[in-house]
Amino acid sequence: MNSSRQTSSSKPADTSASATHENRVCIIGCGRVGMASAYALIQSSFIRELVLVGRSQEQTEGEVMDLEHAVAVPMKPPVRIIHGDYAEAARSSVVVVTAGQATGGPEESRLDLLSKNVGTVRDIVGKLKAEGFAGVLLMASNPVDILAQVAQEVSGLPAGQVIGTGTLVDTARLRGLLAEELGVEPRAVDAYIIGEHGDSEIAVWSGARVAGVKLGRYPGVRALPNYGDLLDRVRRAAPEVVKRKGHTAYAIGLCVQRICEAVLRNERAVLAVSTLLQGEYGIEGVYLGTPCVVGKNGVERVIELDLDASERKGMRASAKLLKDMRKGLPEKDAAQPGRRGGQG
Ligand code: LAC
Repeated sequence: MNSSRQTSSSKPADTSASATHENRVCIIGCGRVGMASAYALIQSSFIRELVLVGRSQEQTEGEVMDLEHAVAVPMKPPVRIIHGDYAEAARSSVVVVTAGQATGGPEESRLDLLSKNVGTVRDIVGKLKAEGFAGVLLMASNPVDILAQVAQEVSGLPAGQVIGTGTLVDTARLRGLLAEELGVEPRAVDAYIIGEHGDSEIAVWSGARVAGVKLGRYPGVRALPNYGDLLDRVRRAAPEVVKRKGHTAYAIGLCVQRICEAVLRNERAVLAVSTLLQGEYGIEGVYLGTPCVVGKNGVERVIELDLDASERKGMRASAKLLKDMRKGLPEKDAAQPGRRGGQG
């Protein structure tokens, strides 16, 4: 990637401050997921500046211009869009990494992308580190759990500050499916997908509730397809989209926006993101999706759900799969996992 300063033609970049800009989010990777995230972010009133760092200078400039026109639409809160470099990126409260390849077809798994994307992620995070980045790093590139772990190790940031989008999008898909089947809105459904953001993910049926009622006792639950079929539909959701349109973008873009919002507003929102497990579920030293309290320091608390025996087994299998994949990476990627902790 080009590391020299680039700005949109109309506005010079702000070079006056070296400190973190509190309401600034940066997106590195201006492909479909990056731009869906950017479009979701500019709809929110909580950001003031959005920095885009992309591989193609010309395309990124075009994206900046298009977004500048969008934020000029009357009634929109102003957002400054910056065509940036790593120095600009590093001064953000949150940097979102969406760079790398996406699955090439419905039969390619997210894990298949590891060897293609690990170098890109190491390169990006190394450049951010060199510029002194000390904010929250949100990883969205796949396979997101392993790449979030690699990013944490390369960055040297406390584990809580490096988050993967994890199973937030899968949790949304599960809630959407259950809501549709049961004739309620998704917000009435309290159910989680945890583990790998991928084919080994687990639905926590034992703790699922609808309007506070255990799922198994909710009126109409008998008409539901069996749980195995529902989980399969969640696991197959992204490949089914990829089969038809070639990529997914909108749902993950809104997940990125939601996590950024939780950080910038210090919400302490409970979101199913990927984080370093340190004993939760009996698992140590691997990034996996689980509900977490997300605030200004990133993941501030990891929530361990009560699982039944088969869910626990599934979680361990997910952890083993990712650990084994991780072991297959070259030595320089297999550093020790870091400690959790915020930056105050
Ligand atoms: C999806 C991509 C982000 O599930 O993995 O849509």
